[in-house]
Amino acid sequence: MKKDLLTLLDLTPEDLQSLLKRAVEFKSGKDISSCPLTGKSIGLLFNKTSTRTRISFQTGIYQLGAQAIYINTNDLQLGRGETIEDTAKVLSRYLHGIVIRTYEHDTIETLAKNSTIPIINGLTDLHHPCQALADALTIQEKKGRLKDVRMVYVGDGNNVANSLIEAALLTGIDLVIACPHGYEPDRAITENARSKGAKVTILANPGEAAKGADVLYTDVWISMGQEKEVERKKKKFEGYQINRKLLSLAKPDAIVMHCLPAHRGEEITDEVIDSPQSVVIDQAENRLHTQKALLEMLVK
Ligand code: CP
Ligand code: NVA
Repeated sequence: MKKDLLTLLDLTPEDLQSLLKRAVEFKSGKDISSCPLTGKSIGLLFNKTSTRTRISFQTGIYQLGAQAIYINTNDLQLGRGETIEDTAKVLSRYLHGIVIRTYEHDTIETLAKNSTIPIINGLTDLHHPCQALADALTIQEKKGRLKDVRMVYVGDGNNVANSLIEAALLTGIDLVIACPHGYEPDRAITENARSKGAKVTILANPGEAAKGADVLYTDVWISMGQEKEVERKKKKFEGYQINRKLLSLAKPDAIVMHCLPAHRGEEITDEVIDSPQSVVIDQAENRLHTQKALLEMLVK
């Protein structure tokens, strides 16, 4: 049966461990000549902008021996009213997998239900599982473990935060989220993860959260599709910035993470994102290695 990655919980903790192990092998260059996807075609269907997700998937797919077909979903007949169901059934006859980036999470669920090929979530308003895979690899590399690492996410309880909650469940990361009231991560995702044993604490005070952090993580205050809320959100998020003062509360060897793109001067200062403690470029690189391991795992 085909397997999708719509949310991180489509993987078991064991799946994630073997995916990370394989990503390390890809990164080491050991498998440079391995082309497990030779002759296959993977669709990249995006209707939000992207630098990392699009280019890392496209490059990774090529390195695995397959071809990537990128298309803005507005240029498909979908944009003129063809149903997702029909699109899914037809594309399943041509392609061996689809990476999709879109707005509503429901859209990718419908796509997955009607496809016979693996569907990979390249970001929706609710989840960003591929980002969390690279984040897990980055923390493992820098801290030597995932379990009980105190990871403090400061900012909007958005798609990235939701996927980090699921990563905490799969890995034993001790996740603390500091966000303004009204901007907490998705309640159902949080409750589900907690009920299964995830360590997830939600606080309103970023200073209290940052104390003793091994990892300080942030994301933009205004996600794609939220452009109308700019002024209101900026006021709400004042104080939820990773700056030198907040970083001084973390452990001296804490690392700073950001999924990128960063809005420098808002959620993070230049000084911190460009500091030796920042691992954001390694984190972006790890998108490539983890997604290659994911494609190898899902695409048959
Ligand atoms: N982090 C991330 O998903 O970046 P892009 O929006 O550039 O793909
Ligand atoms: N939360 C951000 C992540 C971008 C990679 C967004 O959805 O725009």
